[in-house]
Amino acid sequence: MTQRTLARYLTEEQRNKGVITADLKFLIEVVSRACQAISIAIGKGGLGGVLGEAGSDNVQGEAQKKLDVLSNDILLEANEWGGHLAAMASEEMDLPHLVPHRFPKGEYLLTFDPLDGSSNIDVNVSIGTIFSVLKCPEGADLSTPAAAEAAFLQPGTAQVAAGYAVYGPTTLLVLTVGNGVAVFTLDREQGAFILTQENVQIPADTKEFAINMSNQRFWEAPVKRYVDEMVAGKEGPLGKDYNMRWVASMVADVHRIMTRGGIFMYPMDSKVQAQGGKLRLMYEANPMAFLVEQAGGAATTGRQRILDIVPGKLHQRVPVILGSKNEVERVTGYHAV
Ligand code: AHG
Ligand code: MN
Ligand code: MN
Repeated sequence: MTQRTLARYLTEEQRNKGVITADLKFLIEVVSRACQAISIAIGKGGLGGVLGEAGSDNVQGEAQKKLDVLSNDILLEANEWGGHLAAMASEEMDLPHLVPHRFPKGEYLLTFDPLDGSSNIDVNVSIGTIFSVLKCPEGADLSTPAAAEAAFLQPGTAQVAAGYAVYGPTTLLVLTVGNGVAVFTLDREQGAFILTQENVQIPADTKEFAINMSNQRFWEAPVKRYVDEMVAGKEGPLGKDYNMRWVASMVADVHRIMTRGGIFMYPMDSKVQAQGGKLRLMYEANPMAFLVEQAGGAATTGRQRILDIVPGKLHQRVPVILGSKNEVERVTGYHAV
């Protein structure tokens, strides 16, 4: 059987179905090559000197790891020369990165979490990259990085593509261009992503949940109730036994849900209330919500569909509840009572 590379998949989406433009195809290929480069750096681990702290903090006040900085640089460099982007924004940069004047500008905006799951880097557990693509509004002010922030403040429903790479035992790229979700596996010898699954569907029901249980005492009542009910198992009101998993790399937890269903929650809690939540809207919650909905799942804050949120600032944080539709609807319902 002929292998379908990412390039071929994208060409077909562009040519046959008219789903994407040539520039968006190029953009996704560039991001995929950057993810390959990140995968290679991660694979070298201690041999490549990429582990450990960078010695700096990001705009969110989190200590940056060497791989956070390296992955950010790889994505910036790969994406700035091609003429497909107007600007980029990242977890690791306070303000948007404008395309340098020496390069042509394109019509897209790219946001990314260059390295998701930083606490897992040094312990050799799966980590990833998350990205989201928006169109740059006509007439957007891109004169300075600060002025450019406004162009990014679009709801998740405006995304034209989103995806993640997961650097696990295999490196995968999981992608949506708004036409379902496809999974590509990195063939390291060929240096190419090969289509290995199309039309991913998240089962509507599940017996598996993912949440950081150490935050239990800080949660709001609806999430406390829901988790108590799941833990009560067969004898409880939900009438079935649940299992729990928490990788602490959103990419890995979401990928498990893409594969076999489940519910992932980083809900509002009193520790993160002042900042609006833990996870970031523009480059964590929105791309994952787009992918999950495209796979038949649901994604809410508990009170609102994530993709409907109109962002107030680039690094905005939100509560996140996503995955198997019936379970997400159940806990979202608990927020309404
Ligand atoms: P990042 O490494 O990009 O800062 O993201 C980490 C996030 C997310 O990947 C994960 O779900 C969550 O933080 C884990 O948080 P806890 O350490 O509080 O469990
Ligand atoms: Mn992250
Ligand atoms: Mn990160």
